[in-house]
Amino acid sequence: MAVVLGIETSCDETGVGIVSDGRLLGAALASSMEEHARFGGVVPEIAARAHLESLVPCVRAAFQQAGIGPSEIDAVAVTSGPGLATALQTGLAAAKAYALAWDRPLYGVHHLAGHVAADTLENGPLPSRSVALIVSGGHTSLLLLGDLARDPVVHLGDTRDDAAGEAFDKVARLLGLAYPGGPAVAEAARDGDPGAVVFPRAMLGAGYDFSFSGLKSAVARHVERAGSTLAVPDVAASFQEAVADVLTRKAVEACLAHGVDTLVIVGGVAANRRLRDLAAERCRTAGLTLRIPPPSLCTDNGAMIAAVGDLLVASGAPPSSRHLAADPSAP
Ligand code: KG4
Ligand code: ZN
Repeated sequence: MAVVLGIETSCDETGVGIVSDGRLLGAALASSMEEHARFGGVVPEIAARAHLESLVPCVRAAFQQAGIGPSEIDAVAVTSGPGLATALQTGLAAAKAYALAWDRPLYGVHHLAGHVAADTLENGPLPSRSVALIVSGGHTSLLLLGDLARDPVVHLGDTRDDAAGEAFDKVARLLGLAYPGGPAVAEAARDGDPGAVVFPRAMLGAGYDFSFSGLKSAVARHVERAGSTLAVPDVAASFQEAVADVLTRKAVEACLAHGVDTLVIVGGVAANRRLRDLAAERCRTAGLTLRIPPPSLCTDNGAMIAAVGDLLVASGAPPSSRHLAADPSAP
């Protein structure tokens, strides 16, 4: 049974996690989110500098929580991509240094595989087949999954423009809400009427692709027209409803069309309460099992990367090269 240290630095969160046999032993997280707020988005150089400052303290904190030391680590896993180049390089440099100093194998991990594996820390191993909906700041993908460590992933659909989280962030800006937009829109929506404004749902025919730029433009037009009469909670709730409606409808359809009985929803937007509730309701109606990790494992973290490393070690996968390079636009 291996003990794996995982490091995640693809965006603005410095995440470290220690996982063994599908169990989370310790984790620590630092964020440079507030430093980016006045720019309205993540500034890569600021993120990289913050990772540099936070990495060692996070590794120490994760060890402390796990109650173990470096000598008990069997492998080091690190996000190799996709993500911001300078941010990824910081984590990779740290992971390589630890692997070299402790003489342990190094495993490069795909960030999205990490998001999916996060769910296994909470809900146990995935069934032999499942459909995953990954909804984050950079991705909106529907995937058909087999064995995570062995089988190829089948792409069912992707966003053709904005990612779901990106749409939340842009709409937050239109509504004058704080960055990051997802939690701010969700908070504003609590006092709003989701039926107040009927925003468009881009279904794009029978396929599994998504599009959120038309929805964002519709919100922009509404905001402009409403002027000083703008009801922010109503618009936030109506926008959130449109996103949750399209995401859950397509995800359930994909499960039914492929004869899969389990839907896994992961990524930062999976922390959204309305999305979680609507997905639960629709999966119940369709007779599907729904798996969503708790919000703390939905957004970027190190435990999810350690979880993939743990699966790779267990499956006997070969380690990555010590010269592993960052792959910012990994497919
Ligand atoms: O997975 P993640 O932490 O980072 C990426 O890999 O992108 O996702 C971040 C995204 C951001 O766009 C953020 O606004 C969104 O997830 N998000 C949410 C919520 N919490 C985070 N969106 C909607 N509702 C939330 N509660
Ligand atoms: Zn992510």
